[in-house]
Amino acid sequence: MKRLILAISGASGIVYAIRLLEFLIQEHGVDLIISQNSMAVIKSENFHELIDLENMRDKFSNSNLNIYSDADITAPTASGSYRTDGMFIVPCSMKTLSAIANGYADNLITRTADVMIKEGRKLIISPREMPFSSIHLENMLKLARIGVVIAPPIPAFYHKPETIDDIIDFVVGKLLDCMGIENNLYRRWNG
Ligand SMILES: Cc1cc2nc3c(=O)[nH]c(=O)nc-3n(C[C@H](O)[C@H](O)[C@H](O)COP(=O)(O)O)c2cc1C
Repeated sequence: MKRLILAISGASGIVYAIRLLEFLIQEHGVDLIISQNSMAVIKSENFHELIDLENMRDKFSNSNLNIYSDADITAPTASGSYRTDGMFIVPCSMKTLSAIANGYADNLITRTADVMIKEGRKLIISPREMPFSSIHLENMLKLARIGVVIAPPIPAFYHKPETIDDIIDFVVGKLLDCMGIENNLYRRWNG
């Protein structure tokens, strides 16, 4: 069992985070951080259960899940002394990407990412924008050069998806692969 952090920032693609969360809490401890700015996206993408953090806590009360707002800078994940195996940021906005690339640790998500980097722990971010500007790309390159995994939610079609869920599971399966977590969420290429 691992202890993992999942941060949701205000980019489109909340569905990937939900699917990842559902998978992780089956076997792992999860610290979930939700950005205040993501609330507008969460509403527009119809994941209303995420808006009320108290409801979320009730819903997942039997699992090893902690939920924090990104305003809670005193949460355990803000310190390197809190043991974790790594962090996902899914989806990652260009604003959060920029803050991390520049060490601007102004909220719990960017501070926790800063901790992952300074402690040499796994940080996997799924930046979502289209198109990317050269600023976005430079920020990604800066992070990739220090070992941050840049894993945007780009689907493939060689596994012959038949439903939107198949496409979502492909992206989530690849994110789990990046963290070294066993999964059979998508059909792998066998030659
Ligand atoms: C409906 C909606 C969709 C958005 N989608 C994106 C997106 O895909 N990528 C992105 O970088 N920002 C997107 N934004 C803008 C971010 O939410 C905004 O930059 C915000 O400041 C990000 O803050 P955060 O990273 O702290 O969550 C979106 C905003 C809204 C309201």
